[in-house]
Amino acid sequence: MITLALSKGRILEDTLPMLKAMGVEPAGDIGRLLRVPTTEPDLQLVIIRPADVPTYVAYGAADIGVTGKDVLMEHGGEGLYEPLDLKIAGCRLSVAQVRDAPALPPHHRLRVATKYPAITQAHFAQRDMQVEMIKLYGSMELAPLVGLADVIVDLVDTGNTLKANGLIETEIITHITARMVVNKAAMKTKHAAIKHWLARFAEAVEARA
Ligand code: ATP
Ligand code: PRP
Repeated sequence: MITLALSKGRILEDTLPMLKAMGVEPAGDIGRLLRVPTTEPDLQLVIIRPADVPTYVAYGAADIGVTGKDVLMEHGGEGLYEPLDLKIAGCRLSVAQVRDAPALPPHHRLRVATKYPAITQAHFAQRDMQVEMIKLYGSMELAPLVGLADVIVDLVDTGNTLKANGLIETEIITHITARMVVNKAAMKTKHAAIKHWLARFAEAVEARA
C-alpha cells in the first residue's frame, strides 16, 4: 500500500484532475474522510493541512506527498526526496508594501509580517538586513494597512489580493510550484511501488504540458 498525502484547497483541486487523467479516483467522501481509499487497491490518500505534508512524509506516516515549494523551503526538506515538479498550483513568493509608502528613516529595522519566517530571514540576511519578524497564519495583506508591519512576504498569483488592498509587489523572492515529495526510507523499502507512482505522475505532468 502506498499512502499519498494531499492537502485540502489548491493542492487537492489541482492534483485530483491529474489523478483522474491517470485513471485514479477517490473511492470515498473526500470532503469528510481524512483517509480515503482510491480506485487503485494499492493507493490511499490522506488529507491534511498543507504545512503538515512534509512532516507526515518525513516521518513515513505517508510514503509520498504533494506540497508547495514554499512549504518545503520553510520546512527545510529534511528526510525528504523531491523528485518531481508537478507544475501545478503555480504562484510566487514576494515582498509587498503599501503603494506610495513614505520612505523609512535611516537605520530603521524593517518589520516583516509573514507565514514564512525561515525563508524571509534567509532572504533578508542575504541582503545583510536584520529584520523584525512577525509570524502570521493568514491575511498577511492586512498587516501593513494597520501598522503591524512595514512589508509582508506572501504568495502572489494574479496580484488581485494585493491590488484590492492597495499594496504593490516590490520583489519576487522565488517562483513556486507544487512538488512531489518522497520519504527517504520508503524510497528504498517500497522502491518498485514508488517508482511506479512517480512514473505515472511524471507522465501526467508531460501530458498536461
Ligand atoms: P492553510 O489553510 O493551512 O492556511 P493555505 O491557505 O496555505 O493553507 P492553500 O491556499 O490551499 O492553503 O495553499 C496551498 C499551496 O498552494 C501553497 O502552499 C502554495 O504552494 C499554493 N498557493 C497558495 N496560494 C496560491 C495562489 N493564490 N495561487 C496559486 N497557488 C497558491
Ligand atoms: C493566498 C495568498 C494571497 C492570495 C494571492 O491566500 O496568501 O493572499 O492567495 O492570490 P492572488 O495574487 O491571486 O490574489 P489564500 O487565498 O490562500 O488565503 P490565506 O493566505 O488567508 O489562507
